[in-house]
Amino acid sequence: MTAQLLNGAAVAEQIRAQVAKEVAERVAEGKPAPGLATVLVGENPASQVYVKSKHKACQQVGIQSSGYELPASASQGEVEALVRKLNDDPAVNGILVQLPLPSGLDEERVLNTVSLQKDVDGFHPVNIGRLAQKGREPLFIPCTPAGCMVLIESVLPDLNGANAVVLGRSNIVGMPVALLLVRANATVTICHSRTKNLKDVCRSADVLVAAVGRAEMVRGDWVRPGAVVIDVGINRVEDASKAKGYRLVGDVAFDEVKEVAGCITPVPGGVGPMTIAMLLQNTLRAARMAG
Ligand code: GUN
Repeated sequence: MTAQLLNGAAVAEQIRAQVAKEVAERVAEGKPAPGLATVLVGENPASQVYVKSKHKACQQVGIQSSGYELPASASQGEVEALVRKLNDDPAVNGILVQLPLPSGLDEERVLNTVSLQKDVDGFHPVNIGRLAQKGREPLFIPCTPAGCMVLIESVLPDLNGANAVVLGRSNIVGMPVALLLVRANATVTICHSRTKNLKDVCRSADVLVAAVGRAEMVRGDWVRPGAVVIDVGINRVEDASKAKGYRLVGDVAFDEVKEVAGCITPVPGGVGPMTIAMLLQNTLRAARMAG
């Protein structure tokens, strides 16, 4: 292995410890503990796992978390009414609507209902719009993209003029991480299913962020020697040797790419823990904004 491992789990642990310290200080001042409410609609197994780990992380740092679940059959009005109720609840500082929502629900309208001051996921159209515009500041930055930037900047603090390539243009990761890289003055290329000469474009990257959801798609010869490679993918692949019958792999063929890249995030233990650390930071920030 020639690449330096970007240990997201360790960086996230430091951030969580700092959040825990600051939460304890607020509570010692007589302020209420920050509160996070999660909204889970339907029974997507991956979403259930993610929401559970968010609650566990809140508990560990002293953030009060409450989980709200609605059936997949919930109407648009019911989901929006729940979000409005949470908007009006002073004990709730942050609201996280777990995505994707079941089909039939209008995601944009639900996200638009979340109070801007409680939008700890940064997915409210106004926050995303501000992220996309020069001279504007979103109140919150989406958690996974923010976590990617912390890891990138831990090894490349100056991204001025760096070539950054983002694989994937999702609302949750690809597009916002590209916007953050632009804000950091990188020259950014966003690749997707219609991109031509994908391998060559990836090979031009000083920083490569893979967020497409395709197991081990990025091969060793797609990466420029010395590049910083951030793997956002979490894909299940069958593996009879594991108790669960599967193992988790990223969008990057780790064993090949680690011999070429300068720095690389593992899966698991790379970007995943950073997402949760950023959510905790955003929730503390929301509590501070409230008083
Ligand atoms: N689904 C996948 N990632 C995320 C995330 O960061 N936040 C929410 N709300 N849903 C997600």
